[in-house]
Amino acid sequence: MSHERPLFAWCYRQLADHLDTRATGTHRDALVAGLSGRVVEIGAGTGLTFRRYAPPVRHVDAVEPEPTLREAALSAARRASVPVAVTDGVAEDLPYPEASADAAVTSLVLCSVADAARAVAELARVVRPGGELRLYEHVRAPTPLLARTQRMLDPCWSRLAGGCHMGRDPVALLAPAGFRLTSLERFRVPEEGPTLPPSPHILARAVRD
Ligand SMILES: C[S@@+](CC[C@H](N)C(=O)[O-])C[C@H]1O[C@@H](n2cnc3c(N)ncnc32)[C@H](O)[C@@H]1O
Repeated sequence: MSHERPLFAWCYRQLADHLDTRATGTHRDALVAGLSGRVVEIGAGTGLTFRRYAPPVRHVDAVEPEPTLREAALSAARRASVPVAVTDGVAEDLPYPEASADAAVTSLVLCSVADAARAVAELARVVRPGGELRLYEHVRAPTPLLARTQRMLDPCWSRLAGGCHMGRDPVALLAPAGFRLTSLERFRVPEEGPTLPPSPHILARAVRD
């Protein structure tokens, strides 16, 4: 199956740095803060998290299926301060051995994978017992009216935004996969102005049982 989305990839490459500076960067900083050892990241996009990894992180293995974004991620990997290996692959079928990672990271990606439950189950397979999963995701709205609006707009949004879905609830996928939620912060992006359908976000941490 081809994961080429040239128009989305072009737009994301133009916008991602700008959004990182204006809105999402501090959340990505918090996402990876304090990690150590070997980290797996899924759907790395242009590699915006890579420059944020620092020792005691020893190595990062990242998958990115979209070729244009992967090329940008490879370039970001060369500028990172820890070794980052970027591979063509999907979150639902990770090319890493069982219990081989100390931590895993998702950043605005469980909204876009074809099968989010399978992706979280794969992360549970590769993260060692006691290891950590960190998530920065936009999610289903906590209020019924906004959740309904998300559902209504989703078919159109998904086409425009590279297969992204607004109304997913990744936290609900953690326990069935074998992760225990240890912290959950809900907020909106952007913080100012009206709450838009894709505004509800989370930062979450979970431990592999
Ligand atoms: C909104 S972008 C986020 C990129 C990056 N993580 C970030 O924070 O900027 C969503 C990413 O998920 C990737 N993606 C889509 N389906 C995927 C899958 N099945 N497995 C892994 N990554 C996937 C896309 O190619 C894209 O890079």
